[in-house]
Amino acid sequence: MCGIVGYIGKRPAVEVLLKGLSRLEYRGYDSTGIALRLETENSEGSKIEIRKSEGKLENVQKLATSLPAQAKNSLCGIGHTRWATHGKPTTQNAHPHRTGHVVLVHNGIIENYQEIKEELLARGHKPASETDSELFGFLVLDEMAKGLGLREAVIVSFRGIIGVCSVVVMSERELGKIIGVRNGTPMVAALDPSGGAILASDAQPILEYTNDVFFMGDGDLVELSEGGAEFFDLTTGLPKKVESTHLDWSIDRIDRGGYPHYMLKEIYEQPTALVDTLNALLDRAKIESFPLAKHRGTELLMAAEELVFVACGSSWHAALLGKYWLEKYARISVSVELASEFRYRDPVLRPGALVIGVSQSGETADTLAVIRAMKKQGVPTLAVVNVRGSPIAREAEGVFFTAAGPEIGVASTKALLTQFLTLLTFAGALSAKRHHEHGKKGSTDPLTDALFKNTLVLPHALTAYLEATDGVAKQAQTIAKSLVDAKGFFFIGRGYSYPVALEGALKLKEIAYVHAEGYAAGELKHGPIAMIDSDMVVVVLAPKDAWRDKTVSNLEEVKARGARIVSIGAPSDSHLRSLSDFWIPLPELEDDALLPFAMTPAVQLLSYEIAVLKGTDIDKPRNLAKSVTVE
Ligand code: M6R
Repeated sequence: MCGIVGYIGKRPAVEVLLKGLSRLEYRGYDSTGIALRLETENSEGSKIEIRKSEGKLENVQKLATSLPAQAKNSLCGIGHTRWATHGKPTTQNAHPHRTGHVVLVHNGIIENYQEIKEELLARGHKPASETDSELFGFLVLDEMAKGLGLREAVIVSFRGIIGVCSVVVMSERELGKIIGVRNGTPMVAALDPSGGAILASDAQPILEYTNDVFFMGDGDLVELSEGGAEFFDLTTGLPKKVESTHLDWSIDRIDRGGYPHYMLKEIYEQPTALVDTLNALLDRAKIESFPLAKHRGTELLMAAEELVFVACGSSWHAALLGKYWLEKYARISVSVELASEFRYRDPVLRPGALVIGVSQSGETADTLAVIRAMKKQGVPTLAVVNVRGSPIAREAEGVFFTAAGPEIGVASTKALLTQFLTLLTFAGALSAKRHHEHGKKGSTDPLTDALFKNTLVLPHALTAYLEATDGVAKQAQTIAKSLVDAKGFFFIGRGYSYPVALEGALKLKEIAYVHAEGYAAGELKHGPIAMIDSDMVVVVLAPKDAWRDKTVSNLEEVKARGARIVSIGAPSDSHLRSLSDFWIPLPELEDDALLPFAMTPAVQLLSYEIAVLKGTDIDKPRNLAKSVTVE
């Protein structure tokens, strides 16, 4: 996910920016860049020098060594790590973008970029990149041409923007200022005790200089200058007060990024983990949808006629969800097996079957045993694993690595979402293959293409969902307070929501030690409904998808029997909301198939907040191990 740093003060800006960007590397990115204010014009006649490159930060670090002295000594600049959504991850598309005298970096998505682009083209502008970000620079440029100052021009330009995005802008016409706007994606600002001010996508680059920060809210604008930081309201343009927060972070807490528990940190790292996993899975230089990178694993997957997943715990839930996607998009036969059962059965596998072990740790004894046994029998095996060098990764014939990074909390969160993404990507890639095989060579499948497009912007949508003020985190906290003493919980859902219901119940059991069952909503009346009374809570996963109405009928059945209802559904679903005692709205995603990526964090946060109130050892729940290496 994109990361932003901006600095003006008394320190060499290039050092502040590069160090700051290195602290934001964890967010996931595929290109980097910096822009530095110059005291006098450079050979191109401009007063802002830009260096950017595709690939890792070290590419720009190298470019920075050959900067002219006046850029090296610059005391003001902005920097960016980009993760491509609109346009490929090339140097051209990397930020900062220059538009005349305006230079900017951007994090998020301008949803109406197509309309804006057409309008700008009609006005005679010629964008140099494929990005939505660059377009904002033209808007500011045009407003400044009408006589507005930089801050006013940014405010007016923002009025035409639809989408969740933050921008940071400089102009050669007002070289003593950096303007930053937070609108859905995070931004933190601070005063540098040695003079000047800094802003960044999170507090990590700032903690180097000060522990007192301003967490900006959505719709806040900050103007950084040598004199410090002033805040304004983006809608009214009037000055506003933003309270500062003192971050009294121990080294340990800094390791946890300021979060009280690794699990919470890892919940918030999920968008980044998705970005990194997409980068690992795909060959992003290709233009088709879901272009899997070339390796043995891809060959095995593409040759398979039937998929047999083996896994345990949350990884099994991921596989179950994968089945829904694979059947729908790729029309391939899929079975999902508990590794501990499968290994002692005498299963019948058809020729062409591929056995896929899904495991976060890559060490789970039962999953490993199945992979070994299948290999012995000459059955092709594939692994979806988070830990490199782990036994399952070594044993399987082909491997796809999820890129969740180290997951410290014993209860799996971000690793699970990266498993989801990997299996969704398998569905997309197999669907594209199927489409080509059906004689539509060169053409693309609109359903798969739309899914791919929406998958690329999913991390942004998830960030906005997780980080919204008074959003899902706050809702989960409030609900937890009312339900902490409930006797037990059912999590119910149909379709894509069913595996998520299983996961919600598992999370609550694991970290809060509260009895919970996950059920396919249609199964409730076949027994468990006998348990329902007013001491029971039913968490109903009912997004507006093909299964919603049926799930709502099941909700009515448990409501009639006195259960307290927590619903998780579409923000516009007022009927569902009216039936519920507690309510967590989901984000509006273009594609129903992607809703598990938002529902899962919602149930994770609910379980987390209940566990906090129970005072359990959240990161190391009793009796559990991160790697289950015994049967
Ligand atoms: O490492 P694995 O994904 O193979 O582990 C499988 C399960 O042990 C694991 O998912 C377990 O259920 C977690 N504690 C879930 O939070």
